[in-house]
Amino acid sequence: MAVTLKSSRAFARTILVLFGITGDLAQKKIIPSLYRLEEQRLLPPDFLLVGFARRNFEGKKVKQLVRSALARAQIKLGRQVLGRLLKKVFFVRGDVSEEPSFRSLARRVSALEQQGGHCANRLFYFATLPSLYLKISQQLKTLGLLVGCTEHKRETRVMIEKPFGHDLESARVLDRALSRYFSESQIYRMDHYLGKETVQNLMITRFANSIFEPVWNSRYIDHVQISGVVEKAGVEGRGTYYEQTGALRDVVQNHLLQLVALTAMEQPVNFSAAEVRAERAKVLRSIKVWKGKEVSKNIVRGQYGAGRIDGKKIASFRQEEGVASKSQVETFVAGRLFINNERWAGVPFYIRTGKRLGYSATEISLHFKPAPQYLFSAEKTQPNVLTFRIQPNESIYLHLMAKYPGFGMRLHPVDMELGYHQAFAHPIPQAYERLLLDFFQGDQRLFASSEEVEAAWKFTTAILDAWQTTPPPKFPNYKAGSMGPRLAEELIRRDGREWWSLQHKFHK
Ligand code: BG6
Repeated sequence: MAVTLKSSRAFARTILVLFGITGDLAQKKIIPSLYRLEEQRLLPPDFLLVGFARRNFEGKKVKQLVRSALARAQIKLGRQVLGRLLKKVFFVRGDVSEEPSFRSLARRVSALEQQGGHCANRLFYFATLPSLYLKISQQLKTLGLLVGCTEHKRETRVMIEKPFGHDLESARVLDRALSRYFSESQIYRMDHYLGKETVQNLMITRFANSIFEPVWNSRYIDHVQISGVVEKAGVEGRGTYYEQTGALRDVVQNHLLQLVALTAMEQPVNFSAAEVRAERAKVLRSIKVWKGKEVSKNIVRGQYGAGRIDGKKIASFRQEEGVASKSQVETFVAGRLFINNERWAGVPFYIRTGKRLGYSATEISLHFKPAPQYLFSAEKTQPNVLTFRIQPNESIYLHLMAKYPGFGMRLHPVDMELGYHQAFAHPIPQAYERLLLDFFQGDQRLFASSEEVEAAWKFTTAILDAWQTTPPPKFPNYKAGSMGPRLAEELIRRDGREWWSLQHKFHK
């Protein structure tokens, strides 16, 4: 399907100021995505990028910086596309704590606006350490850069990357502080999982087909599993960040809980950002918050020790640069949660995530209750499972019982498959492309609202609090290359269930 662009007003001159253009995120995700958008001619027609960083990349150097990011991302470059993109790139050298730097930025932005003949949409991307967000906002405000232009109806918006705080209290403080500079409608909180094509498809599958909704509830569903951001990868040079973060804050608080929200939400009144975000928030607010002893019963954590992945030796987490030799930080979390509403009463949602596991995948599976056993004995049948393979090998599977060919009456489990790559010739866009495009167009549907972030922190902070007062398991408690600690198996087995995965269908 072709991308429908919003009104041309949304695409008047747009200046994106990228704080942290030399950083990892800009280099790995943002610049390659801008290139791909340019390739598809989806950047606003009058788009300019102004990079801001401490090191000097003035003049030709910033173009070199862009080229090297694209080379690192192994993008097959088209000369014309690259030429068009490079023409749009500018740079201001500066330090976020120095006012003169922001004066230079303000001068550059207004010069670019004057060249365009009128004021522009001013978009700011904070791809920096979260500790700098408020400093940058303050400086932008002081220099009048946050003022929109009523004459031409241009807007200012800000994109911020997670983590939004490190617990409920700090998230609230950050939120309150940001609200001094921006209204909620100007803040785009990035959770890149919301931008993944297959994640967006969850809503379409549920609400555009009539066969799912009637069975999407506790009457038919026994339990739900979300194994998200199960990864072979380790901390990838981000040891210092991860040592302060851990898997619960890094992935559960945002990506995994958003997957829970999209799986469990009610049908929104329409597809507007306000309605969709409100429905996601309702689910997050309805999750039962585990407290005190309930936490150890329902949430388990792990940290990987040395092991092997794909035949390669992997050192333990504690040996990573930036990680303490006796680190108590978790690299794995599994848990069971409940959503306190009519639809999901009593249905457990099992979640798990971890680094240095045996394979990389994200899957959501809905496990249906067994069929009433009048004709076939329970041992011969298996319950239906609807699995959304979010990545890789994007697909949807329905696990069914069928008759094995022959003259007897043998039952055999089979899978009905909808493979994205077989069904659609169109390439799957990267999450960052999609989310940047929405940011340019002013569409917040795929960004987390303040209410969602707060509800997700309520759930995770209660776990963090309980962990503070209970001794952690003896770490490391799982081997790199395994599927996590024994505790995770025990958690689900206690309920008479097993972790489910379609991984066996694909090459590891
Ligand atoms: C990030 C986490 O948000 O998501 C990383 O900080 C994790 O630790 C990554 O590896 C996973 O994203 P993706 O898109 O590669 O599944």
